[in-house]
Amino acid sequence: MKKVLIITGGSKGIGAGIVNAYLTDGFQIYSIARTFNKDVSVAIKQYTVDLTLTENIEKLFEDIFKEIDPKETGQITLINNAGTLGEIAPLTRLKPLDIQQTVALNLTSVLVSCAVFIKSCQSWACKKSIINISSGAAQKPYFGWSVYCATKSAIDMLSKNIAIEQEEEKHPVRALSIAPGVVDTGMQAQIRSSSKDNFKTIDRFIQLKENNQLLEPSYVGHSILQMDKDDQLTSGSILRVQ
Ligand SMILES: NC(=O)c1ccc[n+]([C@@H]2O[C@H](COP(=O)([O-])OP(=O)(O)OC[C@H]3O[C@@H](n4cnc5c(N)ncnc54)[C@H](OP(=O)(O)O)[C@@H]3O)[C@@H](O)[C@H]2O)c1
Repeated sequence: MKKVLIITGGSKGIGAGIVNAYLTDGFQIYSIARTFNKDVSVAIKQYTVDLTLTENIEKLFEDIFKEIDPKETGQITLINNAGTLGEIAPLTRLKPLDIQQTVALNLTSVLVSCAVFIKSCQSWACKKSIINISSGAAQKPYFGWSVYCATKSAIDMLSKNIAIEQEEEKHPVRALSIAPGVVDTGMQAQIRSSSKDNFKTIDRFIQLKENNQLLEPSYVGHSILQMDKDDQLTSGSILRVQ
């Protein structure tokens, strides 16, 4: 039986680490991002889509699910990994459009993707999981990250909600939120290039990089795969890689 991963933001950073871990484990991968990655295996089916255009997500998932045969599928996972800090600055300095686009990617696209994923495979008897990539910032406020913190907190609650809405289904979808830790990606480079005026705790993140204390995307990808495989983890759990 086939194992299937649908992932958003699989083109770089943590998403690329997840893609490599699942590919090595034999998953068929459908990866959604704005850029096409020429350097990855042809076994990965790439969809170049801007997920802030949330009205296109239903059709995107229809196209992906047309490729998947439920009779041949033993396991299917959706990982909502694409995310952005948006502009790093206190709320009053943010432009409404930036707020809107950050919410669209970090929250609206995740809500819509979860909805269409669950509807598409609700009747399937195989193992089914949603993993929403969260952040420590879901639980702890950071000066300059208001929209990011609010949206990550919201997707943790979304995972808990999916868990209670699925518990009486004949073939439930499990939902987990996983905070990956501080990982060496473009997002961390953006954090270090912000200003102390807009992001008061910038020094901590500069130090983590200087002290080689950032996690590698490959390590995080492998850890997320292990959590996905762990049937002891209950739906609605909010987890951390480290
Ligand atoms: N790095 C960390 O320390 C850290 C810590 C906690 C949580 N996280 C979370 O981990 C996830 C991945 O972060 P990362 O550090 O790997 O960030 P990253 O290096 O900036 O990668 C972000 C990914 O999202 C995709 N993406 C961005 N905007 C998109 C859009 N409009 N439509 C479709 N795809 C889009 C990007 O691909 P394209 O550019 O090709 O579209 C890329 O694949 C995020 O949800 C982030 O909040 C990261």
